[in-house]
Amino acid sequence: MTTLADRPAAAATPVADPAPPRLTDWDSTLAFRRDPYRFIGRHAAALGTEVFETRLLWRPTLCLTGIKAARLFYDPARFQRAGAAPGALQATLFGRGGVQGMDGAAHRRRKALFVALTEPAAVDDLVAEVRRAWQAAWPAPGASAPFSLYHFAQPVLTHAVCRWAGVPLPAAELPLRTRQLVCLFDGAAGGLAAHLRARWARRRLEAWLTRAVEASRAGRGGLVAGSAAERIARHADGTGRPLPARVAAVELLNLLRPVVAVSVYLSLMGQALHVHRGERAWLLQPLPDPAEREARRRAFVQEVRRHYPFFPAVAARVCADFTWQGVAFRRGQRALLDLYGTCHDPRAWADPWTFRPQRFEHDERPPPFALIPQGGGDAATHHRCPGEGIASRLMGLVLQLWLDEDGLGWHVVGDPPALAMDRLPALPLGGLVVEPVARPAAALIV
Ligand code: HEM
Repeated sequence: MTTLADRPAAAATPVADPAPPRLTDWDSTLAFRRDPYRFIGRHAAALGTEVFETRLLWRPTLCLTGIKAARLFYDPARFQRAGAAPGALQATLFGRGGVQGMDGAAHRRRKALFVALTEPAAVDDLVAEVRRAWQAAWPAPGASAPFSLYHFAQPVLTHAVCRWAGVPLPAAELPLRTRQLVCLFDGAAGGLAAHLRARWARRRLEAWLTRAVEASRAGRGGLVAGSAAERIARHADGTGRPLPARVAAVELLNLLRPVVAVSVYLSLMGQALHVHRGERAWLLQPLPDPAEREARRRAFVQEVRRHYPFFPAVAARVCADFTWQGVAFRRGQRALLDLYGTCHDPRAWADPWTFRPQRFEHDERPPPFALIPQGGGDAATHHRCPGEGIASRLMGLVLQLWLDEDGLGWHVVGDPPALAMDRLPALPLGGLVVEPVARPAAALIV
């Protein structure tokens, strides 16, 4: 069992020991892999600390958890992103040269592009595309064998986001591009074979989009004029020169990939509806005011994002020596902030392990470092995800499609599926296998 390493006796000098508590395992990569979402929170609780040190991927790594640690982690005077992400993730999930690895003024200039592309009017357009695609693809009751919600959502989202972003995608290419985009977030941290497939998928996707960017710049089509994709192709970071075409392709993938990844949240939201029957009944109460019904749907979405796992942690590097809570942080050290554990921090959340959407009914905006499944702080100036509006709105849309009286409901086939917490991302087993029902009234979604 992992325990605290022996620490030097402090009797002679009554000053705080600046070394963080350490796990005794030489390297914790396998332990982290076995339980990626709870690894940091569990050890921090056992050690009675918000920061401890271990080795991950053979490198000493500081692990931080909780709302106070999150505030610290997003202080750009103390942590930077350049050089923080493991190479294996750069080769798959993120790509190289993109916004995730930038700092300071250069980061803010690149980030401004994403903030502009995800402004509310643009999100409205994406929601409309997804609504059309979802309604067109949803099978009539009895017209299809049971299917996984996760796999159903992926081509729908790929089709919709490519149309919205202005990336031409012939129908015959939809299955291939969907598979490749999914590989980037559902394979990067899988076994060796899945990881190699994710690397290959990124190479193919970057090559495809690099060609489209070059064609667009040369006036040979490639991307739809005036679209989000074309804005990325023309973006200059304030230098007067457009980004290298390969970097523009990486940033375009930063728009396409995460929209397809909303399929993870949709499966988790289906699981939540299926499992939490009291909360489902609360959601379905026939309230006369449509605004109140919508407020409840928004609260349900927020609680799915808080309660369920997605990314376990984010990485940064200490960029200046400092002391926090009596622990010395040294320049160059790698640090991981526990996203999942912070969303369950008892100092920020009452009854944190209970799924209770009512907590958001009258207060949808928790403090900026408490609800951090998509990062913390301010999205315009820090690394917080610019796609929170997109994820929340798409989840709200699909929830409404499921629950409307004349909507597109389903019921789960077979036994209630368990949540696989040892995979990345965590998912209901089988991606939640369902079949459509004729009248999706509340009682039928069981
Ligand atoms: C599917 C649900 C999503 C989850 C769980 C998620 C999660 C995250 C997380 C954890 C980060 C890192 C925060 C940090 O480094 O501190 C991030 C960053 C980012 N996300 Fe999302 N995201 C999602 C959806 C989206 C969407 C729909 C977009 C589309 C615009 C998007 C675009 C980005 C970009 C460009 C960054 C990098 C921001 C930066 O480094 O400044 N994400 N996301």
